Amino acid sequence: MKRPLLLTLFMMVSLATFAQQQTANRPTLVAGIPVNYQEDSVGSYVLPELLKFADGKPVTTAKQWTQKRRPELLKLVEEIQFGKMPDRPKSLKFNAFDPGTPAFNGKAIRKQVTVYFTGDTSDHKMDLVIYLPSAVKKPVPLLMNISFVAYNQLIDDPGLRVGTIWTRDGKRAKADKPTPFGKMNVEQFLDAGIGFASVYYGSIEPDFKEGIRDGIRKTYLKASQTEPANDEWGAISAWAWGLSRAMDYFETDKQIDSKRIALQGASRLGKAVLWAGIHDTRYKVVVASISGEGGAALSRRNFGETVGHITDPSRYLYQFATNYHSYADKINTLPIDGHVLVALMAPRPLLLQTGSTDYWSDPKGEFLSAVAAAPVYRLFGETAPETTVMPAAEDTSLLMNHLGYFMHEGGHSVLPTDWTHIVAYLKKYL
Ligand code: GCU
Repeated sequence: MKRPLLLTLFMMVSLATFAQQQTANRPTLVAGIPVNYQEDSVGSYVLPELLKFADGKPVTTAKQWTQKRRPELLKLVEEIQFGKMPDRPKSLKFNAFDPGTPAFNGKAIRKQVTVYFTGDTSDHKMDLVIYLPSAVKKPVPLLMNISFVAYNQLIDDPGLRVGTIWTRDGKRAKADKPTPFGKMNVEQFLDAGIGFASVYYGSIEPDFKEGIRDGIRKTYLKASQTEPANDEWGAISAWAWGLSRAMDYFETDKQIDSKRIALQGASRLGKAVLWAGIHDTRYKVVVASISGEGGAALSRRNFGETVGHITDPSRYLYQFATNYHSYADKINTLPIDGHVLVALMAPRPLLLQTGSTDYWSDPKGEFLSAVAAAPVYRLFGETAPETTVMPAAEDTSLLMNHLGYFMHEGGHSVLPTDWTHIVAYLKKYL
């Protein structure tokens, strides 16, 4: 069969990107800092205690965790790692410019909603697309996805507004070209009775150092500031903040059950959804895909990317609170680590999805994080890994736990088979 030229080109780009990712995910020197991939060079480390209060007394009940230990750890993560974010703006407004149109041959009702972050409706806004299964007649659960591309690039639906994206050189552009990222199969959610929503992350805050010039963080700078203070929000907090504003909309929509909404994102957006779900407990479930360093992976485990790499000012410091960088050379003094993020989701369901050859993101570091956080889930009587033996690629034995873990065979991506597992997870927990 002859393939259309565009599809062939697209596949070539996808394969080239995939090949790049395979090698890119084993770089040996990054920002002048060597990268370790040898298990026997990882070294030993002691993780900060989860089930001890700051004063050293033991935490023995779920109530103690929720009322006192969780807030202690949350404050540390906020002030050291991602940075404090503002509350819901008073001027927040929604405009459902597509209030409900049949899509996918009637299988879905589609909505498109603009969320205005400030009183000035000409700027600082994000568009959400929402598909609800039309077969379900009561308020429906939903998966909220945060994406690297505009939703009209993510989903094959001619009724979608063409979005605006940021180019690699920091300019605004019309999102009218195909991307190397795959398309989303929305129907798999609809068939499971779950809605699907998506937002382009760059409409909240651009993803580059100078992005502060145009992002939402800029509108909150004090007159004396040119950038946020050391404990204030980086770009990941800004993306998480945007996801809370999406939730603000969902709470107003009677066709959506806002108590049953899950979040999903991959890579830096896996870090963002983890932080968003921790910070905004209105979200019921989080699926953090390949979140790696600064996400679910243990930073003290010297394997793949480290805090030194990720917070190098030439790389991704803008995504974090500036404070995080001060731990680059003294990681053992960091009062938090990846297992703290995982535990802060307890007792709500959290699925960690990783890839076996995604060495840069350290899938084993994510597994060990889940193992270390498991006692907190168990405090609530919820299921979490009972083993310290790392599951093999494609092993689904830990997938369906409240604190779930799944590693596919392959690299830094979310594969169609991962989506099948994610849908099963959502069916169970939404
Ligand atoms: C870089 C970064 C990772 C991040 C990834 C991504 O590789 O070092 O921490 O997860 O980009 O977002 O794709």
